[in-house]
Parts: sequence; C-alpha cells; structure tokens
Amino acid sequence: RTPLVIDTDPGIDDALALLLALASPEVDLRLVTTVHGNVDLTQTTENALRVLHLAGRSDVPVAAGARSPLVVPVPRRAGHVHGAAGLGGVELPPSPAAVDPRPAVVALAELLMSSEQPVTVAAIGPWTNIALLLAVYPDAAARIGRLVLMGGSATRGGNVTAAAEFNVWADPEAAAVVLGAGLPTVLVGLDVTLPTVLGEAGIARFAAAGPVGAQAAAILRQYLDHARDAYGTDGVVVHDALALTEAIAPGTLTTVRRDVVVDTGPGAGRGQTLVDRRAPSSSPSAVQVAEGVDSAAAVEFLVSRLAGG
Ligand code: BDR
Ligand code: CA
Repeated sequence: RTPLVIDTDPGIDDALALLLALASPEVDLRLVTTVHGNVDLTQTTENALRVLHLAGRSDVPVAAGARSPLVVPVPRRAGHVHGAAGLGGVELPPSPAAVDPRPAVVALAELLMSSEQPVTVAAIGPWTNIALLLAVYPDAAARIGRLVLMGGSATRGGNVTAAAEFNVWADPEAAAVVLGAGLPTVLVGLDVTLPTVLGEAGIARFAAAGPVGAQAAAILRQYLDHARDAYGTDGVVVHDALALTEAIAPGTLTTVRRDVVVDTGPGAGRGQTLVDRRAPSSSPSAVQVAEGVDSAAAVEFLVSRLAGG
C-alpha cells in the first residue's frame, strides 16, 4: 500500500476525495494537512477532522497548515459554492480527536523523512503548504514519491476568473514555486475535471449503501443544486476526487510532460496556468499535465468505492 498524504481545504469535493482515499486499499492515508481555501483554516481543519470521524478513521492525524497565502491576501473564498461552513450545509458530528499539535509542514517533513516507501502527496487546496515545505524542508520535499496537484487549466480558462482556476488563484505565488520545483508532479486541472460529471444516479447508489455514503450524498446535495442553477448541469464536478483517483490508481489520466508557468502579476490573468502545448518538454522542471480522461470509468471508480464495492 502506498503511503498517502492529503493536503486539503474541505470543501465538498475535498470531503469526497478523503472518503475515496479511505475506501481504497491501494493507499494508506497516513496524514491529512489542512490549508486556507474554500473556507478559512479553522473551518477546513474542523471539517477534515469530522470527515475522518465519519469514516471511522479519527486515528489519522490532522495537522493544520497555512492560514493565508504566501504573499497576497486572498480576495474571497468559495463559501458560495461549498456553503458557509464548507460542507454544503451538512453538520457532521464532531470528532473525538484533537488536531495534531505540529504545524502541517513539520508533520509532513517528519513523515517524508521517516517513511521507508515513497510517499504520494495529493494537494487539493491552494498549494501554500507545499510551497512552505519546499522553502523550509527541501530535503524532505525531495523525498516526495509523487505529487498529485488539483488545479490549473490548460485549455478551459478559469472557474473563478476568466483566466484562473480556484486553487491556483487562491495562492498564485505558491503555485509558481510548486510547479517550478522539479518534483515528480501530475497536474490535474479543469481540462480533465470539468468533463467528469457525477450525476444523480451515481449519487443515489452510494447514498443507499450505508451511513457514510448517505452523508456523502447529503454533502453533495447543495452543490448539485448550485450546479443546476449556475451551469444547468444535471450532476456535479468533483475535481478533488478525480485527482485522488489518479493518486490511488496512477495512469487513470493520460498525461503529457509540459512546461507550465503561473501568471503572478496583478492583472486580469493573475492565477492563470500557462501550459506550453506546442510540444512535450524534457526540461527538469516540466510536469505531467493531465490531458485525457475516461470520465465514465472515473465516475464509476468513485461511485463503486463510495458504495463499498
Ligand atoms: C478546486 O477549487 C475548490 O473549490 C475545490 O475544492 C477544488 O479543489 C476546483 O477548482
Ligand atoms: Ca479543494
């Protein structure tokens, strides 16, 4: 089993991603680190604790990380999408577990330095904690076996501005650091997440499978209504769960090695990922950009895991 860390800002799709990881025997979730993002750090940390407790896994340590971006305060959060408390208006029971006393970067560095096997890190919120790890513990960061990032967009424009995807927009300077670090990185952006829609029928399957699936479905309900009103879609895009699918089952997505830079300027392009698609890159700082997805298979993977199959 591959040791796994999830760096997250729950968040509806983050909650689903956590539950997917816990339902997947290929990975061993060893640590959850939290970050500012969809809602503030206090709330993302509380939500992470509660989601783990829901799954009966309050033994997994939760360490809180960055409260704010590296440089520029984030202009707004995503409570309008995820609900003011981040989990679509669902109030999960509190966890008996306390937050780990270590800062996220310390917990992450200790795990990376002590693990005998290469660790996969899935970063599904703004990437501030990963940028801090690179700055504070570069030797530990160099031991990351695989870094699966949810964020960015090569061809689809943005989802929070015309140019920017949320996780990059919420800390563009961190994104620039992380994408330039030369780590073994897979970038799972809007190109593959937007076409991967989880519909009512899939949600109904895990809703009926037991209490965890029922709560997951409840968390999705408000998001489903938002998607119907905002985009007219009969289903939801669970970005972070697709990134986790790639973390759990490498090769789920088709990737191409590309040079990627982040627009960190103050203008309308702030937070845009500029992916050079002219030709595959062999530069040491290039990243594997996800460009192809079998969306039906990815949705089936998620639904069947959440349904306990
Ligand atoms: C990303 O933004 C957040 O709102 C989601 O949780 C996901 O990580 C999608 O752009
Ligand atoms: Ca997220």
